[in-house]
Amino acid sequence: MTTFARRRWIGAAVTLTALAGVWLWAERLENRLESSSYFTGWMLLTAIIALAAFQVRKKLPAAPLGTSAVWLQAHIYIGLGSAGLYAIHAPWRWPNGVLETILSLLYIATFLSGVIGLYWTRSLPRRLSRLGQEVIYERIGAERHRIQERAQNAILAAVRTAGATTLGDFYNARLHDYFSTRRGWRFRIWPSSELRKSLLAELTDATRYLSDEERKTAEQLFALLRQRDDLDYSESLQWRLRAWLFVHIALTYPLLLVAGLHAWTAHLFYGGLP
Ligand code: HEM
Repeated sequence: MTTFARRRWIGAAVTLTALAGVWLWAERLENRLESSSYFTGWMLLTAIIALAAFQVRKKLPAAPLGTSAVWLQAHIYIGLGSAGLYAIHAPWRWPNGVLETILSLLYIATFLSGVIGLYWTRSLPRRLSRLGQEVIYERIGAERHRIQERAQNAILAAVRTAGATTLGDFYNARLHDYFSTRRGWRFRIWPSSELRKSLLAELTDATRYLSDEERKTAEQLFALLRQRDDLDYSESLQWRLRAWLFVHIALTYPLLLVAGLHAWTAHLFYGGLP
């Protein structure tokens, strides 16, 4: 077994043992006709506070608080385990009351965003590295502009020197907008190779009517078209990696607030703080 697989087994075993412990203790309380809700509720709130504390750790990289890798592993197992705590704590039905409904929805959304983010942070970097050259997110705009200029210069030179009007007309009709405008939100959220394939096919079709000189320029356009599509795809994946974390963190604060309010009102209604 690799170190990675062993670490995974240990993490899963510790999480499941801790959950079994909480469940057995809650059962014991119920059997003694005592409410287990305070116990399980505090366990869940403690887990949520520990999960949120990950951001504090990230903001203080130099503090002697353990390595980031250990924090991330702990975050993932506590995060997954918190679903077990939620299942033990919350009744298995639609929650009563506005506060409880908001709390449940916030918890579920934060949990799901964490699981989706975990999948993306593991899979998207591999997809990005398969694209070959990696462009830093902040440099993508400049790179897009560079590709557009190269395409435009290539077509202008071809028209000027070889009178390449067939290719020039095709460029104006089909490629000018592609190179000069940004892809829309649909592509950013759900990138697809549809446009790339259809433009490459159209350009392939058009080369049948081109002179030898024009064909050389068309070869350049093929390469630039692919480069531009790879760049847009890379932007979409890098944006996704940023956007999910933004959503995950943005959900954390209201979750903490509403969970705190829920604990407070629970104690208020059931006889004050112990
Ligand atoms: C349900 C309650 C949860 C809360 C309150 C929470 C909160 C947070 C916070 C505050 C961060 C730090 C973000 C930063 O500053 O960069 C974070 C990051 C992260 N969380 Fe969660 N999280 C929860 C559940 C989960 C779950 C269930 C998973 C996955 C199983 C998960 C996976 C991650 C990952 C992968 C990161 C980013 C780590 C990195 O790239 O450095 N989270 N979370």
